[in-house]
Amino acid sequence: MFLKQMFWIVGVLVLLLGTGRSTAQDTPTLRELAEQNNIYIGTAVYTYHLDDPVHVETLGREFNMLTPENEAKACVIQPEQGKFNFEPFDELVAFAEDHDMVVHGHTLVWHQCMPDWLQNGDFSREEAIQILKDHISTVVGHYKGRVKIWDVVNEAIAGSGTGLRETPWQRWIGDDYLDLAFQFAHEADPDALLFYNDYGAEGIGAKSDAVYELVKGLVERDVPINGVGLQMHITVKDTVSELGGRVAPEKLRQNIERLGELGLQVQITEMDVAFLGQFTEEIRQQQAGDFRRVMETCLNTEACTAFITWGVSDKLSWLRDPQYSDNPNNAPLLFDESYQPKPAYYAVLDLLARQAGLEPILSDDEVAVMMSSTGAAADIPEPTKSDPAQLAPDSVPGVAYYAPFPVAITLDGQTDDWANIPRVTVDSGPVLPADNDTSMIFAVAADAKMLYFLAEVQDSKLVYGTHDPASEWYLEDSVEFYLNTTGDLKLAAYEPGVVQLGLPAANLTQPEQPLFGGGNSADAQVSVVAVETETGYRVEASVPLLTKVWLLKPKHLKPLGFQVALNGSSGTDRDTKLIWSVYDTQDQSWSNPSLFGQLIFWDVKR
Ligand code: XIL
Repeated sequence: MFLKQMFWIVGVLVLLLGTGRSTAQDTPTLRELAEQNNIYIGTAVYTYHLDDPVHVETLGREFNMLTPENEAKACVIQPEQGKFNFEPFDELVAFAEDHDMVVHGHTLVWHQCMPDWLQNGDFSREEAIQILKDHISTVVGHYKGRVKIWDVVNEAIAGSGTGLRETPWQRWIGDDYLDLAFQFAHEADPDALLFYNDYGAEGIGAKSDAVYELVKGLVERDVPINGVGLQMHITVKDTVSELGGRVAPEKLRQNIERLGELGLQVQITEMDVAFLGQFTEEIRQQQAGDFRRVMETCLNTEACTAFITWGVSDKLSWLRDPQYSDNPNNAPLLFDESYQPKPAYYAVLDLLARQAGLEPILSDDEVAVMMSSTGAAADIPEPTKSDPAQLAPDSVPGVAYYAPFPVAITLDGQTDDWANIPRVTVDSGPVLPADNDTSMIFAVAADAKMLYFLAEVQDSKLVYGTHDPASEWYLEDSVEFYLNTTGDLKLAAYEPGVVQLGLPAANLTQPEQPLFGGGNSADAQVSVVAVETETGYRVEASVPLLTKVWLLKPKHLKPLGFQVALNGSSGTDRDTKLIWSVYDTQDQSWSNPSLFGQLIFWDVKR
């Protein structure tokens, strides 16, 4: 239960015994707020980073734990058998001590970064055990009392989680090389905390099950292990539950908790959040959400004692190296190339402040954007209402429509119940009407069960009932509403959950049986009422929030992909095409939902 506190108290004592604590500043720093939350915040450092004063300043100001990015790996620290090169790591340890940082040593045993003499050696079990012992005792002994935590073994489970990885150590010694490594480390520094570290074992799955079984075995055999490091090299949106993210909070929590039940600590040891393509504003926000969810899970699990990022600045991330990632634009850390804090930084800082009961750093709306399952709301400015009576903010033309909920609507072709629901005019598109007499005004709202659409079409000549309503409805007067309910607003093809809902004016003569068409439209279980008006026609429609393919729970600021279009005919076939979203200039929404804008739910009772 009090593992976290104990670890923290011991750590604070160590810090207090160190030289001069950092002085209080105007704005809180990560490390100050982390301390208030009984957690360490760390980062990986490469010796050459210390040549840059800006790097040094950021590092000392924001972090209270340091991991050597490469300096303690065997290929650096014992390049030749028996010849130890302590200098680079010594420099980092000295820096950490000068800046009251705890050192998380990484790593004693790893199948990578093995020096040639070791990698290419051919040793008997006894010889290999002796080499393992010499290496560990010498390195851990050298830093005794100065390196608080050691990743004793790194990545010993096979990539997919199918058992122990075949490594030279495993080949020479056998599976008990792990037990021996931990024992040697414990003998060399009985006070150091000894960790097993791995990647891809963060959530629940084959790999984390294998890691769990491995460390459980160590614990049961009384091997001196104190913790598990979850590397957390993830990709944008990996933490989003709605998208089935492999590091969704509930999966991460469950994993940390089961490790905690073995009496082990957990640390997030190498977090970075990669992405494909350009670093757009959307990805920036989404990445912030990913960092925040992982930190939040760490804070809210008893066993989690540290949160470490794999570097300070995007500029120096290992993921900019083509050897490790094929995206040269990767920007996976908390600080950008110029050491400016990114949304991810503020996401973590704000969380730490709130959890410590201090003033929030971000507004609730800023946090909501980061935490939305798509992050797509980022391009949308702060919502404003030009008319205070209006139930939701003004829409952002062609980009976002705020749909109020819950609002009582009856599907009767009347508009009195649509009072104060924002109206949007659609009068532009790829095929404008010749005589400029056709346009539409739409509105959308939800109650507890249904999503409602209203379209007021201005059209001096109604043309309907002359085409097959199933296949050619769009060639005559008709309204189209589109929804992308999948949560993936960038989706570029129709999948279940994306619908094009074509509602022809022909419904004027078909009150008992709704006419509709369009991609996946049968999934929408639509009801329609169409009435003729003085200037054209009106369509009122509803779809259930729960169908066989979607569950649309209106939540404040939750976005859906959304599009509106109008087909107009002045004689035979369609000669007008008006489209609401600014992204679709070519009338391609029927095949590509990434061209939709957004419908953002707005809670009128909040
Ligand atoms: C990486 C370093 O960042 C690179 O500089 C080096 O070239 C290769 O190793 N998992 C680990 C880390 O445990 O040690 C790795 O660090 C990144 C993946």
